[in-house]
Amino acid sequence: MARSISLDGSRSVPLLQIAMDYISVAPALAMAVKVADEIDIIEIGTPLCKAAGLDAIRSMREICPDKLILADFKTPDVGGLEAKMAFDAGADMMTVIGGAPLATVQQALDEANRRGKEMLMELTGVRDIIARAKEWRDMGVERMVYHRGWDEQDAARQWNENDKDTIRQLIDMGFKVTVTGGLNAELLPFFQDLPVSIVICGRSIRETPDPAASAREVRNTIARLWGGSPTPPPSSGSNGSSPLNNTAPMAIRYGVSEMGLMMTVDGRECPGCDSPKRLCQGTQTTIHCPAGVSADNVVRTIGQFFGQSNAVGRVSGDVFFLDPGQLPGASPHRVIELLTATGHALRQLGCQVDVGAGIAVANQIMSI
Ligand code: 5RP
Repeated sequence: MARSISLDGSRSVPLLQIAMDYISVAPALAMAVKVADEIDIIEIGTPLCKAAGLDAIRSMREICPDKLILADFKTPDVGGLEAKMAFDAGADMMTVIGGAPLATVQQALDEANRRGKEMLMELTGVRDIIARAKEWRDMGVERMVYHRGWDEQDAARQWNENDKDTIRQLIDMGFKVTVTGGLNAELLPFFQDLPVSIVICGRSIRETPDPAASAREVRNTIARLWGGSPTPPPSSGSNGSSPLNNTAPMAIRYGVSEMGLMMTVDGRECPGCDSPKRLCQGTQTTIHCPAGVSADNVVRTIGQFFGQSNAVGRVSGDVFFLDPGQLPGASPHRVIELLTATGHALRQLGCQVDVGAGIAVANQIMSI
């Protein structure tokens, strides 16, 4: 699939990558919807790879078809197979840990080259970086991730001149270098004199009250430091902050239908959204629970993901409703969060629902 942004070597303005270091898929998808306009690459973080791996990559690919996706596997062995798994699921890039044997690096690299994808060396914990880098360069590795790990950061390890010196040497050797590890807009000027390729921010975007604004601030800082165009401020009619419009109920209906859920009540088939005899009225969508699941349980579990809200409720023992009209000050992103929470609640209750497909169609309808 063609992505809107390529990883070409001539680029001098670093791309912005957001790290989704979650331990379940739903918040990662919801965050991606929030920040998609402001970032270039979505990273399925290592904890998320371990918690939900290929499912997370597939779902992210479905809701963000035009973004580059990196699977931060930090693979230590079985390089060819793990690269294949990541790419088959929809990733454009994957990482191999720097301590991996050269045979593992070679297998992952071969798989990436065969597929026109990217394999990056992850340098966390590598002590002899330049010596190893010479071996990797001879094998044809092109990209690496220079990383101050979370645990190092917790142990008060600061970014310092030695880091910059190593990064500069790597770039002089011909590598394209990603920098990461507790970065934010305030720390970026430290790297300004280095032509780094990609900047990764995770917590400094995700863990803020307005992640899209935080991502925009990082992006604008990158533009100021390395050149490039700042992101225009969002207009009131576009994406993240636009008011809920009447496409939200339809997005919910098509979304739940795409997930494989039935909008059928008491055996009556719904004749469709355009029919005056449709089952769902106004902004409310009425949904039949899959077999063996009660509406009370569904409503309670959605509440765990989404928070308590009048936008979800019980109709009868095995029927519940979603009503985006009940979301105070709702944006399209909030509607997608409601749908995401519904899908993942049902999955948690053991139902087979295709959450990614539902979100993808809802996104299309609301043109997020
Ligand atoms: C942890 C990681 C993180 O994804 C990386 O450190 C970026 O996250 P943050 O900006 O929150 O440090 O790879 O091992």
